[in-house]
Amino acid sequence: MLISSVTTIYFSPTGTTKKIINSIVKGMKIINNKIIDLTLPKVREAGVPLIDGDIVLIGVPVYEEKISQGKLPLMAKIVPKNSARLFTKTPFADMSKCSHCNICVKLCPMNAIDKETLEIDEEQCLRCFCCAKRCPKKARKIIYKPRFLVSKVLTMKNRIIKEPKLYL
Ligand SMILES: Cc1cc2nc3c(=O)[nH]c(=O)nc-3n(C[C@H](O)[C@H](O)[C@H](O)COP(=O)(O)O)c2cc1C
Ligand code: SF4
Ligand code: SF4
Repeated sequence: MLISSVTTIYFSPTGTTKKIINSIVKGMKIINNKIIDLTLPKVREAGVPLIDGDIVLIGVPVYEEKISQGKLPLMAKIVPKNSARLFTKTPFADMSKCSHCNICVKLCPMNAIDKETLEIDEEQCLRCFCCAKRCPKKARKIIYKPRFLVSKVLTMKNRIIKEPKLYL
């Protein structure tokens, strides 16, 4: 079968998943690519998008050994519990560096950053670190929890061999 068109669906806060999906499409020499980028909440909330083409490619990051919850392909819910909560605090903003440009507010895939105070909602934050990576002033820092805690949890988790799961 000749594949000439594709719908690509991805969630990509820091851009790697998007890059990989685009490379696959390029490698397959498919020119007709319908892109559904589910990173921003407003797109996910808009409802089921139209999917067409010969194939569908779906890309999501792995967070703490899981892909985001919710039914594929829409991935309607990016649930915060699939995150590195155990290992990191929410990215801290150094207000002496911050220009209050609100880029982090606009790019946050969880709408977790208050546009006035720039504080992050602990429960909503996915720990994708998009706000830290994209901050033009490098004002946001990733704060790790104590090393012994991270090491203990990873040692426990590494004892169990996990098999790949299908979510379709
Ligand atoms: C909080 C967090 C947890 C992660 N957990 C895993 C993991 O368990 N296994 C893995 O292979 N990669 C893990 N990663 C790496 C991401 O899957 C990887 O950085 C991915 O490319 C991010 O996608 P994006 O650039 O499209 O946002 C984790 C990244 C973050 C930020
Ligand atoms: S992106 Fe950086 S500089 Fe802009 S508001 Fe957020 S923390 Fe401040
Ligand atoms: S506040 Fe949390 S969810 Fe939002 S961009 Fe920053 S790390 Fe990601």
